[in-house]
Amino acid sequence: MPIVAPSLLAADFLKLDAECKMLNESEADWFHLDVMDGRFVPNISFGPMIIEFVRKTTRKVCDVHLMILEPEKYAEQFKNAGADILTVHIEACHHLHRNLQQIKSLGMKAGVALNPHTPVAELSDILHDIDLVCLMSVNPGFGGQKFIPYTLEKIKQLRKMIDEKGLNVHVEIDGGVTVENAGSIIAAGADVLVAGNTVFKSADPKATIAKLKAL
Ligand code: DX5
Ligand code: ZN
Repeated sequence: MPIVAPSLLAADFLKLDAECKMLNESEADWFHLDVMDGRFVPNISFGPMIIEFVRKTTRKVCDVHLMILEPEKYAEQFKNAGADILTVHIEACHHLHRNLQQIKSLGMKAGVALNPHTPVAELSDILHDIDLVCLMSVNPGFGGQKFIPYTLEKIKQLRKMIDEKGLNVHVEIDGGVTVENAGSIIAAGADVLVAGNTVFKSADPKATIAKLKAL
C-alpha cells in the first residue's frame, strides 16, 4: 500500500480547518506542505505560520517540502512549527551534506527533492544520508500541472540504486499524480504519492484518497 500525502496547496484556505479535519478522517497518511519563496520557484505559497496552525489539527506526519533558497536559515523555524520531515531541493543546496545533518540534528527526517532535469545519479554519494527522495514529476512552483512521463524512468533508476545499496529510503512522487497514473508510478518503485488537485478538487476527496490507498 502506498503512503498517500495530499498537498494542502490545493486546499481551500478559507476552510483550512475543515480541510484538515477531512484529511484526518480519511486514509491519508501524511500532510504534504509546499513552501515556496518566489525565488527558487516563480511562486509564493506559505511559511511556518500556516504549518504551525495545521500542526495543531493533526497527529499525522507533516511532510514539509521546501522550494526555497538557503533552507539552512529556516530549518529550525520549520522544526518549531511542527515539521516531521523536511525536504530541501538539491538544486538549492551548495552543501547538501551539511543541510541534511542540520535537519537530522534538529530531530526531523531529511528529504531531498530533485527537479525534472536533475539526474538521480547525483544522489549516489549521499543516498545513505537521506530518509526520503522527492522526485518532481512537474516543474515545481504550481499545482495542477501535467505529469512528466520520463519520471517513471527516474523512479526505476532510483529504486535500483536504493536496492543495490540495501537502503531504506522513501521514494516520493510530486506533481500531476492522478488515480489513473498512480498505478504505474507505484509499479515503477515509488512508495509515497503526493496529490494536490486530484484529492482536493475531486467530488469526494476521502473516496479519492481511498482509491489511491487501494492501488
Ligand atoms: C508543486 C508542489 C506539489 C503540488 C502538487 O510545486 O510541490 O506538491 O502541490 O500538486 P498537484 O498534485 O496538483 O500536481
Ligand atoms: Zn510538493
